[in-house]
Parts: sequence; C-alpha cells; structure tokens
Amino acid sequence: MKILVINGPNINMLGVREPDIYGKQTFADLLALLDETARKEGLEISQFQSNHEGAIVDKIQESYGKIDGIVINPAAYTHTSVAILDALKAVGIPAVEVHISDVDAREPFRQLSYPGMYCEKTVKGQGLDGYRQAILYLKEKYGK
Ligand code: DQA
Repeated sequence: MKILVINGPNINMLGVREPDIYGKQTFADLLALLDETARKEGLEISQFQSNHEGAIVDKIQESYGKIDGIVINPAAYTHTSVAILDALKAVGIPAVEVHISDVDAREPFRQLSYPGMYCEKTVKGQGLDGYRQAILYLKEKYGK
C-alpha cells in the first residue's frame, strides 16, 4: 500500500517552532518515524512538505492513480484552504487529517478545518504519534 504524508507550512520548523505547543521533536524525527512505520508495517510511505498552498494542491493532483491513502497536516492552510479541500475531493483518495497540537483547545480560528470536511478522520493533540495513528487507520481500512 502506498501512503503519502503531506505537511503544510512551518512543519519543517518542528523542534524550533513554539516547542511549548508542538514539542521538542524535530522534523527529522518525524521523517525517521515515517521510515520506521513504513518498515514495521510493510508500507510504501512517501512524504512532501511545502510552505506553498499551490505546491500542496499540485502534489495532491499528482497522487491521482498512484497513491492509496493520504495523511495530511495542512498546518495553517487547515483554516483557510478551500483549494486543498477541493484537490482532495478531486482525486478522491482516502485521507486522514493530523494536527500535532490539540487544535480544539486553542484559538477560535483554529476550530474550522476545510480539508477536514473531506478527511475520514482527524487525529489531534497526539504529537508526532498522530501521524503513525493516521497511517495505521488507513492500513487497517484500505491495506491489502
Ligand atoms: C497544526 C495546527 C494549526 O492550527 C497550525 O497552524 C499549524 C500546525 C498542528 O499540527 O497542530 O501550523 O496543524
């Protein structure tokens, strides 16, 4: 099974960025977690991080017919991007949304998620382990 993990803006700054909210683990730690999960679970996991909304839309479109499941942390675009929502709807690939922090317990503007309107499930407030949980959900539901 082929899973694509997409991260939006500033996720590459993990470890440096607001560690009281996002923790001290770095983006490199996240990449290592994805590699380890791929090995343990027998999955093909690719990843893409971008600070640009259009690049994320392009990547979702490119996944059509190639990827079996998407795990996406759209970061700040969560709360603004109809374009990412529409791209997910366009390709129709099963998707799970991840947020490292517990967005429900934060500012009111973080309560709305456009991509979340498409995603089957949202994992929030679980730190980096949320990505592993999202991957396992897709494997259990769609893995052959
Ligand atoms: C985030 C939550 C968003 O509100 C924020 O803009 C981020 C990260 C999270 O992983 O907790 O950049 O998606």
